Amino acid sequence: MEINGYISDRLIEEVRSSCDIVEIISDRLSLKKSGKNLKGLCPFHPEKTPSFIVSHEKQIFHCFGCGAGGNVYQFLMKSENISFVEAVLHLAERQGIPIPKNKKKIGDVEGYNERKRLYEINKLAADYFHKKLLESSEGGKGRDYLKKRGIDSNTIDRFLLGYSSPLWDHLLRYFERSGISPELLEKAGLVIAKEGREGYYDRFRDRIIFPIFNTQGMVVGFGGRIIADSNQRTPKYLNSPETPIYKKGGVLYGLNLAKEVVSKEGFVLIVEGYIDLIALYQHGIENVVSLSGTALTREQVLLLRRYTEKVITVFDADSAGRSATERGYDLLLERGMRVKVIPLPSGSDPDSFIREWGGDLFLKRIEKASSFVEYMIERIVKEGNLSSLEGQMDGVNRILPILSKIPNAVERDSYISIIGEKMGISRNALLMELRKAILHQKRRVNFSPIQKEGNKGVAERSLIQLMLIDHTNIERVKRYISIENFEDHDLCQIASVLFSLFDKDDEISLQRVIALLPEDQQKEIVARLVMDGMEYENIGKAVDDCIRAIRRRDLRCEIDTIKQQRKEAIEMGRFEEYRMLQERYIQLREEMSKSSI
Ligand code: GTP
Ligand code: MN
Repeated sequence: MEINGYISDRLIEEVRSSCDIVEIISDRLSLKKSGKNLKGLCPFHPEKTPSFIVSHEKQIFHCFGCGAGGNVYQFLMKSENISFVEAVLHLAERQGIPIPKNKKKIGDVEGYNERKRLYEINKLAADYFHKKLLESSEGGKGRDYLKKRGIDSNTIDRFLLGYSSPLWDHLLRYFERSGISPELLEKAGLVIAKEGREGYYDRFRDRIIFPIFNTQGMVVGFGGRIIADSNQRTPKYLNSPETPIYKKGGVLYGLNLAKEVVSKEGFVLIVEGYIDLIALYQHGIENVVSLSGTALTREQVLLLRRYTEKVITVFDADSAGRSATERGYDLLLERGMRVKVIPLPSGSDPDSFIREWGGDLFLKRIEKASSFVEYMIERIVKEGNLSSLEGQMDGVNRILPILSKIPNAVERDSYISIIGEKMGISRNALLMELRKAILHQKRRVNFSPIQKEGNKGVAERSLIQLMLIDHTNIERVKRYISIENFEDHDLCQIASVLFSLFDKDDEISLQRVIALLPEDQQKEIVARLVMDGMEYENIGKAVDDCIRAIRRRDLRCEIDTIKQQRKEAIEMGRFEEYRMLQERYIQLREEMSKSSI
């Protein structure tokens, strides 16, 4: 974990337990009593009725609307947009608890201060570029260009668009006057050290500047577009390098402005370019984010999922379905997002489309957007030669990896019917292949999607919940279930923390579990499960029911696979293999019939 070696776990817990989470949160929003807990409007997503709950007794919070949750540190990290160490330092300062100054820690305080400075510098730079665009004579070039592209002054202000002078040291000199060192500007990615010589020069010259904001609206980096398209030697777009405050796959351009509209509209559009996003904005379509030339990351998917589960991607038809993985569709599907696509005519992008055809036609396309999976099926049917067996197999092999990513069995099943119909393949054969693809995927990556429906997800989740509510259940669960039995990656992590605390005979407390979990998302799940308020009439029986459900599910899954392999073995005449499979099969059936645990 990032904190190891900085501040001891003991001190982190001391600082945490010295304060009351209710008090810290009440400083920032108003909470009302609600049963045992307190309730308020969630500060992390827009809402009209309160779904943000704080537990005084458990010292955690959870929002039933957006899923945010954890202890006081997760709250501070999110609400102040700071790192974990920063949250600890912040709280220690408030509580008057001294943090011993060892070398590493001082380094981190400096890191904290440096990050703060970088945000300030970026904001100053953004304002400087913006002013250059609006007020300077050289900025006329930029103003003309934006006008040519149909971008009006409201939009320029909204996105804080700017212009950087063609001179090599304009920004350097501006900051020199404010006493900010070139070293710091280099850290911010705004200037570049000269090679083999003393001195620095501006990174962005003679470009339209797009400041990149994080969700809190702080400037974390910049994109810059050349004005004249003719020059082949310089890249069309230039971006800030990664800096202590800018991680490329960690932000989505436009999300700071879009997030509220996204929640309201119930879906988000994903486009590729800065200008694409801005063009849609100008036509009143504001629930849009741009990837700005990067491939979608898991972090970005998690960011989006805070606001919506519905995604519509708008891409050039040539590229839309070319490689589902390349485009990040698998990441969206894995997280249970509903994905639709708007394929645009070949060679056009959202900007050119909306300028040529207008906003109304674009809205029509949104209405008619088809689900990504159906779109892929259509494509495969069109492109493949489904009259031959080979062509059919090819098609199935292209579509199954996509289907196997969809966590919801009901949804998967409905696609199976469509594919069967379109490709003329039997449902059973497809289901068989799909099962294989899913098993294969499980072995390959240690990540399986969150199961929203179906018994298996429920059993896993309930089991974790029961162990969190009452730690004495851990022993019994451990006797029958190992962490590999948990298909869901996050639940598996939580189980592994609970089991290892139990093994080490360590004190098991909710706060310890939260502290030991590696990902924020897992802390959120813990908070959700604890706050869920589920009442179990007979806890012992509930534990046994869940254990049984998971064991039966795993048995059934293995039986299905064996049956399939057995069938293949006999078809291929591999009788020795068949005999072994048959033995295992009988053994599994027996275990299944003794359904006791
Ligand atoms: P316009 O040509 O101004 O309409 O931009 P565009 O967004 O239509 O360009 P394109 O479709 O070529 O690229 C999509 C996005 O990829 C851009 O908005 C940039 O964020 C990024 N991109 C394009 N070209 C480059 C490049 O040369 N370097 C980098 N770093 N990013 C680029
Ligand atoms: Mn374009």
